[in-house]
Amino acid sequence: MADAETVSFPQNRTCPYHPPTEYRSEHRGQRPVSPARLFDGRTVWLVTGHTEARSLLVDQRLSSDRENPAFPFFAERLAGTALRRVELLGVDDPEHNVQRRMLIPSFTVRRTAALRPQIQETVDRLLDTMVEQGPPADLVDSFALPVPSMVICALLGVPYDDHEFFEAQSRKLLRGPKSSDVEAARDALDEYFRVLIERKRATPGEGLLDELIANQLESGAVDHDELVRLAQILLIAGHETTANMISLGTFTLLQHPDQLARMRESEGLMASAVEELLRFLSIADGISRVAVDDIEVGGVTIRAGDGVILTTSVINRDENVYAHPDDLDLGRNARNHVAFGFGVHQCLGQNLARAELEIALPALFDRLPDLRLAVPAEEIPFKPGDTIQGLLEMPVTW
Ligand code: HEM
Repeated sequence: MADAETVSFPQNRTCPYHPPTEYRSEHRGQRPVSPARLFDGRTVWLVTGHTEARSLLVDQRLSSDRENPAFPFFAERLAGTALRRVELLGVDDPEHNVQRRMLIPSFTVRRTAALRPQIQETVDRLLDTMVEQGPPADLVDSFALPVPSMVICALLGVPYDDHEFFEAQSRKLLRGPKSSDVEAARDALDEYFRVLIERKRATPGEGLLDELIANQLESGAVDHDELVRLAQILLIAGHETTANMISLGTFTLLQHPDQLARMRESEGLMASAVEELLRFLSIADGISRVAVDDIEVGGVTIRAGDGVILTTSVINRDENVYAHPDDLDLGRNARNHVAFGFGVHQCLGQNLARAELEIALPALFDRLPDLRLAVPAEEIPFKPGDTIQGLLEMPVTW
């Protein structure tokens, strides 16, 4: 399937909020599904069309099973841990559905709305500390990371006092750099949750993990190892992603002062502003699948065993769906973006992420109306293309 226009995947962004230029259709002959080359020379299908992406993400002929030897990994360090099971995210239906049904009640719109006062309190407390300590600060360390980290700890019933440990493991898990780092991080988190679950069995507390122990573990619906791996997924997915959205979202708003002013003037705009930022930034830029049967889509035939990568950053800028897709327009209707994926694996934590963003972003600019970068924008380091997109640090002043 490779041809002269085959691009390599992943690539680093040149601007932290725009997709890498070569993913764009002008480099791939305007095709919605086209070949791309992975780090190991393997050719996979890159999906960039919105219609094609939505149809593929609900197609059961595509599998999320990371234990399938043909599953396409982005980087050597991830391929090196291929034989380790990833619950939920890396499991197909019907097994996936059993796990998802166990968790859904904790992530409904209603349950998430009930967490809003607690999220607000967390945000206010962190902003108090920033004000007390005075500028400058690293927005990632002092705000963007602790907000979701504290919230997911409270939701799961994980002690926030352990945050330095699990944030460090999470960094290694997502960015390595070596395969052995990823492996070691997963071992350390497995051990952490093994001990925590035993402790909670002896002395139950409050939180989703305690509920899962009482309702699912004790009844035999899940076993100990499966619960350990589920807890790990929830903890990592629950803080890394939203942390990147808060810091990169803030950076992007500062770079678009007209849109920031619009957001600050109208509280009613917040829900659509968050949706637009999710579309525009597409931080989970690359959803991977492996075909288990042949599929005709977008003028090509994906064969059983082929790898498929859905590039959310380009899909979410499809001109057929969004007018002037490269413009940040907080008032547009961006609802049908695929920043949270689509289909059975669509982000379980999306209501929670929306609530955190809708509270954290306006509170930050209300409390620190003169917030600005403390260094030139070009000096802000951002993450490489083979992981969740975001800023490594963000020095700010006010
Ligand atoms: C803005 C922040 C977030 C973004 C952009 C995001 C993005 C995504 C995406 C793209 C997927 C689909 C992956 C696939 O189809 O293979 C996903 C799945 C998932 N996300 Fe999120 N996520 C965010 C926040 C959260 C939060 C706060 C949680 C809380 C626990 C969470 C938990 C999960 C879980 C458990 C899955 C797997 C669902 C399944 O396989 O059924 N995410 N997320």
